[in-house]
Amino acid sequence: MSNFPKINHFENIEELEQYLLIMKNMVCEVEGLSELDHGLQTACELEIMSPNDKELQIAGLLHDIAHQQCHIRDHEQYGSNMLVKIMPYRIRELIAQHANAKRYLVSVNKSYYDKLTPTSKASFEDQGGLMNEDEIKLFEQHEFRDDLIKVRVADDLAKTPGRNVHDIEYWLNDLRKVAI
Ligand SMILES: [Fe+2]
Repeated sequence: MSNFPKINHFENIEELEQYLLIMKNMVCEVEGLSELDHGLQTACELEIMSPNDKELQIAGLLHDIAHQQCHIRDHEQYGSNMLVKIMPYRIRELIAQHANAKRYLVSVNKSYYDKLTPTSKASFEDQGGLMNEDEIKLFEQHEFRDDLIKVRVADDLAKTPGRNVHDIEYWLNDLRKVAI
């Protein structure tokens, strides 16, 4: 948490756009990478995986929007709530469940844990740790399960300082297109 403006929810797209620019100055878990860089790289990875799925790409751009707003264990739901007035259910749900995708992948494939960054390992228990069988079943039945896994895989690939990807201006049009 930090001195960045405290946001309950955005009233309109303009407020979100302004906040994304502030995220340029938020340091993320990887040195040399801002929170905005991380979102841009996640969106870029999703654009490669699913070129026509703008909602999925924007979910990637915004998935960590609540970093710096609350405790790490709450950032998925908090981030989803920040967008309640401006983004559709699917995008908000992909954000709200993205840590569960990490829990799921670790639970069904223990070696996945070894590949996590130190910060991601540290937050794992806080985020609920290993899923039990019921939680695994529930996740597997989730309507957006495949998309959630894509967001998680993209998230993992989006941590390279200095990588050249589309800048935020590229996404502004799409942000408006997918907004409610
Ligand atoms: Fe992330």
